Amino acid sequence: MNTEDSRARRDTDEVIRLGGRHLFQNYRPLPVAFDRGQGVRLRDLEGNEYLDFIGGIAVSTLGHAHPALVEAIREQAGRCLHVSNLFHIPEQAEAARLLTETAGLDRAFFCNSGTEAVEAAVKLARRWGRERVGTDAPEIVVTEGAFHGRTLGALAATANPDYREPFEPLPGGFRRVPYDDLPAAREAMGPDTCAILVEPIQGERGVRVPSDDYLAGLEELAGEHGALLVLDEVQTGIGRTGADFAFQRHGIRPDAVTAAKGLGGGVPVGALLAREEAAAMLGPGHHASTFGGNPLAMAAVGAVLRTLGRSRLSERAAAMGERLRSGVEGLAAGGAPIHDVRGAGLLVGVDVGPPAGDVVRACLDRGLLVNAIGDDTIRLAPPLIVASAEVDLGVELLGHALADVGQGGTREPELDETSDESHRDDSQSYGNEKNNDE
Ligand SMILES: Cc1ncc(COP(=O)(O)O)c(C=O)c1O
Repeated sequence: MNTEDSRARRDTDEVIRLGGRHLFQNYRPLPVAFDRGQGVRLRDLEGNEYLDFIGGIAVSTLGHAHPALVEAIREQAGRCLHVSNLFHIPEQAEAARLLTETAGLDRAFFCNSGTEAVEAAVKLARRWGRERVGTDAPEIVVTEGAFHGRTLGALAATANPDYREPFEPLPGGFRRVPYDDLPAAREAMGPDTCAILVEPIQGERGVRVPSDDYLAGLEELAGEHGALLVLDEVQTGIGRTGADFAFQRHGIRPDAVTAAKGLGGGVPVGALLAREEAAAMLGPGHHASTFGGNPLAMAAVGAVLRTLGRSRLSERAAAMGERLRSGVEGLAAGGAPIHDVRGAGLLVGVDVGPPAGDVVRACLDRGLLVNAIGDDTIRLAPPLIVASAEVDLGVELLGHALADVGQGGTREPELDETSDESHRDDSQSYGNEKNNDE
């Protein structure tokens, strides 16, 4: 590689220009590009370091460059990446064992993303409708505010009209009811209902946590009608909410559960888990995926699940999440423009006074990565390995960022050294030198 190439590769403006020229313009990325990370920290091309409190949108369960995950991927890549489901795959069978044991369900199907896991769930539910409910027009009850993905079936289950309308007609057979409203769900159940599909916490809707009895009520309702309770745990699964799966905090056992995001710790993978009777709905020829469950992805799943169990990361997420929420509540009590803090474990939504996009930008300038969900809410979803000092630092940086926005976007060129130094690992800085808005 010549010097010219190497200079261009490492130059943020050049990356932005290249992407702007050659990529579909379907994202609106912030003007920063990362090329490495360690634990809860990410470093951009210019060498600035950031505290990663979004974790690739609830994906980086083990943080960046976790030795167990790196080693599993490296080792697997040196043996074989892919063989197809024409053959038995040892890593897939083992990942299925670990995942079903973690979830307390019977069988797993592997795919490559959250939306694919939902597609599989929709197909499973429809076949259940035909085979077990005895209807030719199976209907799935879904909720207002739901987000289930961007492929057509998952999009049909998703609520947001801005996501749906440009792509209509979408598949039918979905009946929408208000979230966290058991009487409305009861009302919607009928002879064609084959399933209720719902998120245990609505992540994209601003981290909306339902009442304690909601999921158990839905389980009962589905049971009464011979319909399936399908939980979309793409965002909430794999320890994120302080339990391995969010439903386990409610003492229920759903018929099927989707997972993705945190499952591969950054390696793209999704899964549908189900009880035996439900899993039987997808037999040979009914569903498949070329890449689904390939050895590389399965090695990553194995490493993530083993580390989740061994390091008790779900318990850690519960404790760190509590610390994070009370830290943010402390900011609010101290006068920061925060209207509400909610969530479970390390999935936290914060309603802020200023526009959420401005807060995200101010956080970036302070060296803290978060994201906006809606106009007024930011989401915090750091890796589950986050340490208490890092939680405290994240809260502190958020406080500074909110103050910056309150002062009309005036950003201090440096963090207050005295207040931040106590939390700072000597070898790290957090992008505090980055205060330009390119
Ligand atoms: C609950 C839920 N379901 C499905 C999806 C779609 O997952 P993916 O983006 O991996 O397709 C998401 C993504 O945010 C999600 O939060």
